[in-house]
Amino acid sequence: MSDQHAQKQAAAKAALSYIEDDMILGVGTGSTVNCLIELLPQVKLAGAVASSQVTEDKLRALGIEIVDLNFAGQLDVYIDGADEVNAQLQLIKGGGGALTREKIVAAASKTFVCMVDASKSVETLGRAFPVPIEVLPQARSYVARELAQMGGEPVYREGFVTDYGNVILDTYDLDVTNPIALEKQLNNIVGVVCNGVFAANQADVLLKAGSSGVETLTR
Ligand code: A5P
Repeated sequence: MSDQHAQKQAAAKAALSYIEDDMILGVGTGSTVNCLIELLPQVKLAGAVASSQVTEDKLRALGIEIVDLNFAGQLDVYIDGADEVNAQLQLIKGGGGALTREKIVAAASKTFVCMVDASKSVETLGRAFPVPIEVLPQARSYVARELAQMGGEPVYREGFVTDYGNVILDTYDLDVTNPIALEKQLNNIVGVVCNGVFAANQADVLLKAGSSGVETLTR
């Protein structure tokens, strides 16, 4: 499977085995998740908690009941994609801008199953893909200056507003060699709502599709 879309489809198919009958499933956001959503008519869900409005709309269109996370309790499984993943199953997410809701649903789930194609695997996070950081609109310039002091190069995602009405600073050149420390440091900047480093809430299972099939890695 050299074709990236075919790899996404293969990873999504492998993720089906983590879904049990009548469960409330946490569903992520992005093109890999869209491959999973196409397969969901094959399973019998009690409902789903969606990590974005886009996903919510797609699930509703299939007749899947949307459950408010506040009434769902702890979810057994959350399935999502990622923009980058390292060998420790730590991630960068938020390319689609849904990072805050994604991190909340991941945190509220027992098992986070992450599906990726071969292009997402990296040795060190953040070298190629910027860290998306969701920021309260009023704090945008202040947070950008703080990020610059940390050696980052924040780029305002023009014309994009998150599901929570905030803005995104895609931040290049941050040192992500210690993802756990960086995630905390970014969270400590006043005005930051959430950042796209998923280290405290890393994946528990990684379904990595490549040219020779889907590899399953666990932590
Ligand atoms: C959405 O905000 C992101 O976190 C996605 O999970 C991530 O960008 C992966 O998307 P693709 O599956 O489209 O590559």
